This record gives sequence, C-alpha cells and structure tokens, in this order.
Amino acid sequence: MRFDTAQLLKRFFFAERSLLLSEASWIPAIAPLEIKTNLARYVWQGAETANALRERVFELRFPSRMMEEEGDDRALIAIFDAVQDSPSVPAFLLSVGAVLLPAMRDAYQSYLKASDLIADGPTHRFLSLAVAERIEQISGFGSWIEAGRSQKPEAWSEAAAWAEEVGKRLAAVGRVGVESPVSGLPGGPLPGTRPYSIPVHPARDRRFWPCRFYWPDIVDPSYPYGEGMQLQLRSAISHLNEAWAVEAGGVILSAFADVLPWEWIYNSARWTYDESRHCRMGYERLMAWKLDPGWIPLGTYIYESATTVDAGDIPLNLLGMLFFFETKNIRHKPERARLFHSYGDSLSEHDMDFDWADETLHASYGKRWLKELLAIRGQDPASYEEVRKNCETLVTDYVHTVTPAETAALKTAADRLINKAKQLR
Ligand SMILES: [Fe+2]
Ligand SMILES: [Fe+2]
Repeated sequence: MRFDTAQLLKRFFFAERSLLLSEASWIPAIAPLEIKTNLARYVWQGAETANALRERVFELRFPSRMMEEEGDDRALIAIFDAVQDSPSVPAFLLSVGAVLLPAMRDAYQSYLKASDLIADGPTHRFLSLAVAERIEQISGFGSWIEAGRSQKPEAWSEAAAWAEEVGKRLAAVGRVGVESPVSGLPGGPLPGTRPYSIPVHPARDRRFWPCRFYWPDIVDPSYPYGEGMQLQLRSAISHLNEAWAVEAGGVILSAFADVLPWEWIYNSARWTYDESRHCRMGYERLMAWKLDPGWIPLGTYIYESATTVDAGDIPLNLLGMLFFFETKNIRHKPERARLFHSYGDSLSEHDMDFDWADETLHASYGKRWLKELLAIRGQDPASYEEVRKNCETLVTDYVHTVTPAETAALKTAADRLINKAKQLR
C-alpha cells in the first residue's frame, strides 16, 4: 500500500540519517587514514540514499510535517542514535559494521523482495544501489575490525560486549525490517555508554611523521613555497593534510544537524566526502613517487586552532575555518594547475583542476550556511565575515605557539623529503 510504503521509507530515512551523523562525528577520533577517508565516503553515500528516500516519501504524498520526526519508529532510531555514544573506537566500528549496517542491508533486501518493481520502480533503483553500497561498506568495516583485532585483541572484548547489547536491543524492536514498528524503549542507556564529545585533538595515522605544522612555510614566511618539483611536492603535502578538512566537515555536519535543515546535512556530507578525495589525491600522489610515509608530515594545526581555544564555540570555529581556507587558497589553484601542465605532471594538474571545481562549490556552502546559522541564532547574517576573520586570528595565534625545536625539525624533515623527491625524478 502507498501509505505503508511511505512509512517504511520514512523509517529508512531516519535510520540513514542517524547512522551518517554518527559516522561523520567519529571521523576525527579514528587514526588510520584509510578509515577516515572511507568513512567520509560512506557518509556521503548514506546522505545520497537518505535524500532519495526523503524525496520519494514526498512523492508518495506523505504529509510533509511527518518527515520532521521519527514517530512510531522512535525506539528503533534511539538505538541507532545510541551508537554515537560508543565507549571506544573499536566499539563504534563493531556496532556499526557488524550490527547496524547488516540490519540496513537486510531491511533493504526485504523491501526490494516484497515490493512491486513496476508500481514502486523509482524506489527500486536507488535502494538496489544502496544495497550494493551497504555490502561494500560491511566488507570495509570487516577488514578494519579484523586488522584492529589482530593488533590489540584486549581492546576488542569490551567492544564485543557493547556491539552485542546494541544487537540485542535492535532485535527487541524487530530490527530495521519491513514490519510494523515495535514501540517502547528497552532499558535506558546502554551499559558502557560514553557521551560523545568533539575530539580536541584529531587522531593521526602512525605511518606518517606526526607534527602540528606540516611544512616550514606555515611557520616561517621566508621559506619558499617553491616551484618545479618543490611545488609539486608542496601541493601533494597540502592535499594529504586536508585530513583536517575531512574531520572538520564531519564534526560540523553532526553538530548542526538538529539546528539547520536537511539540506545542510546533504551539502556537508558532500563537502566532507570531497575533502576526503582531496586528501586521497595527496596520498596517492606521494605514494606514486614512492616516498616513505614515515618521512611525510601529517599535521594537526588547523583543526587544533579551532578546538583548543578557551571557551570557544568549536563547531562554529570549524565551519568558519573551512570557509576561511576555501576562500584563502582558491585563487592560486588555476595557476598551479597550469604550472603542473608546463612541468608535464599531468597527475598533479588533474588533481588541482578537480580540486578547484570542488572548492568553488565549498566556498558557496560555507557562505550560505554560516549566514543561515547566524540568522537562526538571532545574529546578523552579514557578520559571517567576522567569523571568517576570527578564524584567521585563531590560526595566526596558534601558529605563534611554534617552538624553535619544532621549526628546526620541520625544516630537516622538509629538506630530506625534497632531496629524496629530486632523486626520484
Ligand atoms: Fe579541499
Ligand atoms: Fe574544500
């Protein structure tokens, strides 16, 4: 029936929404670059599915005001929401990868089997894609869980108990399924719950050289940005270090999800995913030059400029920081793409060209959503420029905390990398 279909698709929408919010908010806490960047991609896939679900529910003439709350599926969605308060990274990975994602895959498969391909053709198209994406995501989580378990088996026993409890509660409400909702909240907060808070320091992949500032020119304006090979290397290092932007995107997506409308989540999911592609561009470029990751600086300063100030509004700082950097660097990009072309480095040229197109879109996201957020808070929307300027000050102040030892170590690391890259050409 048309109504039941809309009810179910609405349930799927809220499950997708909850899951992607949790995934986005955990990006800074997870160290391996592969997980960080793939989580951003999964967040974007989830947002695309959720958006298609939402549009389809409206098409089925479901009362639109009912898209504002979970209704009879509240108990189910509360279990999804609870995973954001996982006690640890292993607990989060296990409860999402081994419990929530399989429940969604199963629900979509049941839906596709039970529904009419002709009458409900538009749903079939995007849910079939969602099933394929879920299968890939489950296998991604599976490999991360396996790798984590083999490195630190003790951290995973607590995680297993957590995931088991999530699974039990999900079973008690009939999983995601395609049946009528079971109401009533089973037994209060999950044992071991740790209320989520935005990580102050982002976790970093141990394969890279850990630092705050990732290139000497950040702390010493007299250090040349460089040309030729040095510019190619500098640009790839910048791209890799956009890990901070993936983290900032994930945090703000989640932090403003209940304040701003659905389009915010939809835009910022794409934003976060785009930054993960820029980060991977840098990673793949550096690996193609066969540079040792242990020599490659992976910094934290931009993220920490937004999170370590006293009594600051961290989500607003992170949104402002993204907007500041989008608008600061964009003018250099077409020129750099042209230079890379002149060096015959088509890979760097291609990366910069795609990056430029993405960043143009991001600058418009930043301006639009900063203005909307300020308006909702009863502030002057035009003061978004002040937020941007404040972020510039935060970064400048943070850069001034560099120590002489840090600068010296950074220069040694950069020189070593430049010399190595020269030999490889
Ligand atoms: Fe970017
Ligand atoms: Fe961007």
